[in-house]
Amino acid sequence: SALNITDTLQRPLRDLRISVTDRCNFRCTYCMPKEIFGDDYAFMPKSELLSFEEITRIARLFAAFGVKKIRLTGGEPLLRRDLPDLIRMLNDIEGVEDIGLTTNALLLKQHGQALYDAGLRRLNVSLDALSADTFGKMNGRGIGPERILDNITLAKSIGFHVKVNMVVQKGVNDHEVVPMAAYFKKQGITLRFIEFMDVGTDNGWSFKQVVTKKDMLTLLQETEQLEPVGADYFGEVAGRYRYRDADAEIGFITSVSESFCSSCTRARLSSEGKFYTCLFATEGFDLRSMLRNGATDEEMAGAVQAVWEKRRDRYSDERTEQTAKSRKKIGMSYIGG
Ligand code: GTP
Ligand code: 5AD
Ligand code: SF4
Ligand code: SF4
Repeated sequence: SALNITDTLQRPLRDLRISVTDRCNFRCTYCMPKEIFGDDYAFMPKSELLSFEEITRIARLFAAFGVKKIRLTGGEPLLRRDLPDLIRMLNDIEGVEDIGLTTNALLLKQHGQALYDAGLRRLNVSLDALSADTFGKMNGRGIGPERILDNITLAKSIGFHVKVNMVVQKGVNDHEVVPMAAYFKKQGITLRFIEFMDVGTDNGWSFKQVVTKKDMLTLLQETEQLEPVGADYFGEVAGRYRYRDADAEIGFITSVSESFCSSCTRARLSSEGKFYTCLFATEGFDLRSMLRNGATDEEMAGAVQAVWEKRRDRYSDERTEQTAKSRKKIGMSYIGG
């Protein structure tokens, strides 16, 4: 059984978000703007990436400290070859109860069935608009929403539990809040509205571009009857609401207007093996060097424990216009949200 450890704010370690690649086939304006992530951008060479064996070894150490949930992210995780093999390896770890994948779903048709067969059951699909014009602009590649919508339908029919994530940015896609809600209500799929965050240093964030949960709820309540639902588990990120007249839910991820740091149990592992204790961290702890220099499991576990026990991150609680601009933060596409 697991050894439970807590950080300086008494938060246990329960989730591990693993980025499997820093590459993406989209160029979302708020995440990988194409002016910065251009043709000559230096992504990580393959030798720098953790192998599946290395990822699994590290995940096992985290599981021994109480991690029960694993989420695979990117970049775009479906760009990593042989991902079903990794799902199988992670599923075999004692203590791991839940594995999810966050994806833009562009390649889901090619990989969905194999991932399901490997034991993956949960998919969070990012989709910011239904209008081709708005979505094409936001993903930076002119890709329309049809293929994503088709792949969501396909994923449901394979048997996945699917949720949709929509990042809402004022003046960009806030006019899509109501149509997106209507569409996914009809589909019985949970749609989660994400307040635009100041992740990384490249997305030109300001408070002015944030549409808060309160704003969105007011807008939705003009036509919908919604009631709050309690959290599924301690530290759940999304505030959930259910429609009174349909079997569907929506959620709000309120990193800006109602931060949730006090219950943040998440660790993050970058694709090159750095361990971060916050989405907005500046530095990570290099587990890959330890591992490639021949450290034992005990030594690695000791390092993980020491980092977690020193953890004091609560960035979203402390965010100001100033920290958003001046703090050097890791990139979203690098750490996977
Ligand atoms: P579930 O397991 O389905 O609840 O997934 P999740 O919501 O934890 O993960 P997902 O990858 O779908 O993330 C949705 C949004 O929440 C993304 O914009 C993430 O960046 C954001 N998010 C997830 N965890 C954190 C966190 O610890 N802090 C902040 N600020 N945002 C987070
Ligand atoms: N603010 C909020 N959410 C973001 N995501 C990426 N960048 C941002 C941002 N600046 C979302 C993606 C995906 C999830 C992993 O993070 O759209 O749904
Ligand atoms: Fe790619 Fe997701 Fe970032 Fe968009 S938000 S560029 S899909 S990693
Ligand atoms: Fe956790 Fe950092 Fe997000 Fe707060 S800002 S919820 S500490 S990852």
